[in-house]
Amino acid sequence: MDWGLQNRLAGIINPQNNRALMLAVDHGYFLGPTEKLEDPAKVIAPLLKYCDSLMLSRGVQRACVSAATRTPMVLRVSGGSSIIGEDLSKEDITVSIQDALRLNASALAMSVFVGSKYEHQTIVNLGRLVSDAQQYGIPVLAVTAVGKELGKDARYLSLACRIAAEQGAHIVKTYYCENFEKVANSCPVPIIVAGGKKIPERDALQLTYNSIKGGAVGVDMGRNIWQSENPVAMIRAVRSIVHGNSDVNRAYEMYKKLSSEHPKRQDGQNTQRPNTSPAPEHTPQNTP
Ligand code: R5P
Repeated sequence: MDWGLQNRLAGIINPQNNRALMLAVDHGYFLGPTEKLEDPAKVIAPLLKYCDSLMLSRGVQRACVSAATRTPMVLRVSGGSSIIGEDLSKEDITVSIQDALRLNASALAMSVFVGSKYEHQTIVNLGRLVSDAQQYGIPVLAVTAVGKELGKDARYLSLACRIAAEQGAHIVKTYYCENFEKVANSCPVPIIVAGGKKIPERDALQLTYNSIKGGAVGVDMGRNIWQSENPVAMIRAVRSIVHGNSDVNRAYEMYKKLSSEHPKRQDGQNTQRPNTSPAPEHTPQNTP
């Protein structure tokens, strides 16, 4: 593997423990101002030091994230449809490699819609993106998108993940499901699990724990962090599972303790001040 590619990947998946905590804030690219993500800058600032990487669109990166950050950026480069449009699976690549380089992207993320009307278009786009990004040593994260008409069981997700890996994706993002081991074992590249719709905090911690136990390197979590009553407490609890080997009970106790120390403000944001200093949590030796 080229040094640059390896180095970028090491910023996303910690090579010392093979674990990853990605914070997803890219939802606006097809959902618009998603609930509790209306002001991305405000959401991102206090959470940035606790994630290994941040997944977002170029617009939000430029407008809402300080260029002084040392957190790796996973840049969403696909889009073209909206939640009120005709078909969510009709996506294309919307960002050039040149712009991704200007943004110092550590990885490029795009969705593949296996089994949808636009399956062919999105899978071919993935192959092309890998070919283009590989020239510059930039890894590609393939997002196996699911929809109403697409399955979310181990059979479907194994198929989608394997196809994405066969096209050359360096990391695959998918969903947790029953028999998740089957999905992880048949995918030759690292898998990270999306959080999905907001569920109670303890359940989201259980999802994190189960995903890692089932073979994922970590999670790419959005709504279950920033739609939580206490986003900072929640990301720290998730981090304690991903990087601190906490079990669910310990992580949930941590969530409750931190929540009581930093009660939420009326606007739903945690009162803990954003700290823009280099994050000690980025080293595996530190407690989450
Ligand atoms: C979906 O494709 C979005 O790109 C999100 O990044 C992804 O679903 C993870 O966010 P959440 O944990 O909210 O599902």
